[in-house]
Amino acid sequence: MAETQDKNRVVIFDTTLRDGEQSPGCSMNVPEKLRMAHKLAELGVDILEAGFPIASEGDFEAVRSVANELPWVRVAALARSCTLDVQRAASALEPARRPRIHTFIATSDIHLEFKLKKSRQQVLEEACAAVELARQFTDDVEFSAEDATRTDYDYLEQVTRAVVAAGATTVNLPDTVGFSVPQEYAILIDRMVKAVGDTAIISVHCHDDLGLATANSIAAVVAGARQIECTINGIGERAGNCALEEVVMAFRVRHDQLPYTTGIHAQHLYPASKLLTEYIAFGPQPNKAIVGLNAFAHEAGIHQDGYLKNKSTYEIIDPKSIGIPEGRLVLGKHSGRHALRSKCEHLGYPVSKEELDVVYKGFIEIADRKKNVSDQEILAILLTLKASERMKTDTAVAGG
Ligand code: KIV
Ligand code: ZN
Repeated sequence: MAETQDKNRVVIFDTTLRDGEQSPGCSMNVPEKLRMAHKLAELGVDILEAGFPIASEGDFEAVRSVANELPWVRVAALARSCTLDVQRAASALEPARRPRIHTFIATSDIHLEFKLKKSRQQVLEEACAAVELARQFTDDVEFSAEDATRTDYDYLEQVTRAVVAAGATTVNLPDTVGFSVPQEYAILIDRMVKAVGDTAIISVHCHDDLGLATANSIAAVVAGARQIECTINGIGERAGNCALEEVVMAFRVRHDQLPYTTGIHAQHLYPASKLLTEYIAFGPQPNKAIVGLNAFAHEAGIHQDGYLKNKSTYEIIDPKSIGIPEGRLVLGKHSGRHALRSKCEHLGYPVSKEELDVVYKGFIEIADRKKNVSDQEILAILLTLKASERMKTDTAVAGG
């Protein structure tokens, strides 16, 4: 169902390629961003924020290439609230059929005094001017009040109303420093939802500094927000952003309490997480909800016993439903190539005969030293292999 027809449909705004990418160890080159963009489109995200075009040539190129190669997808580009940024975003988005300009400026007194050195009135005027300019390029304009959760609420409401009057169709109220707590964020969102009525969508963008990004995003949706900004594996500035897979699965598994829907095809969640892990310097922590390696591992005897009798004793999600291939074997030095091949498949990396030889060599080196070889160790061998294969392909392409 179209996201505008169903009042409980939540728009998923993916910022893996922008906020996610701008954190240490997460930078991706243009071909990697493009492959990731295809995966996100397959996953069913509603809006794909592909970069911050004024920040670098690479970002500009990434936005342009994503817009070019996936014209049916709604592509967003970030811009500070100033003329040059907005023009640069518009230019990067030229090939897009459904472009969104996402312009932002900080609104909290802390940011105004120490970072921007601007008055509230100046910020208000610049925000509106940027939205008006962006509207000359597209009907789809999002405004973000950076550090909204530490902004004076009366002033924030004034800015929210003004940018909507200036043409913003989505107003995002980020918890930029991950400072808010669910009940407080819900009050803020409820107030802004009432202020805009049905003239704009209220969006949320939560950072995870206190480990509350998912809880805050859900509280905001319950209070009336209808767009969540999130990333695969929760990557992003500092402690990261709200993890896409967590909110989506919370809405599915606890639909009785959270009757919201998204356009996400859950069977692509794990493959998307895996692809991202190939491109950046780290994967999700092993105990990460939904996509961590241990998220469906049962170690304790009592748990294993219950699980073997009936999976629902200890499993609330069928791993297959999020794209995790079946089959879990503990491998040691007596495990043969056949078991190793099936483990690679289970981890999401089917291997050719030649690749299996490489993986087997690395596996035996570890198995000679230890009793069991963990999934993480096998995954590390696979990721190294994939990285070296990618390097060879990229060098061949660059060499013509
Ligand atoms: O965290 C933040 O405030 C942001 C904005 C640019 C949306 O990333
Ligand atoms: Zn952010």
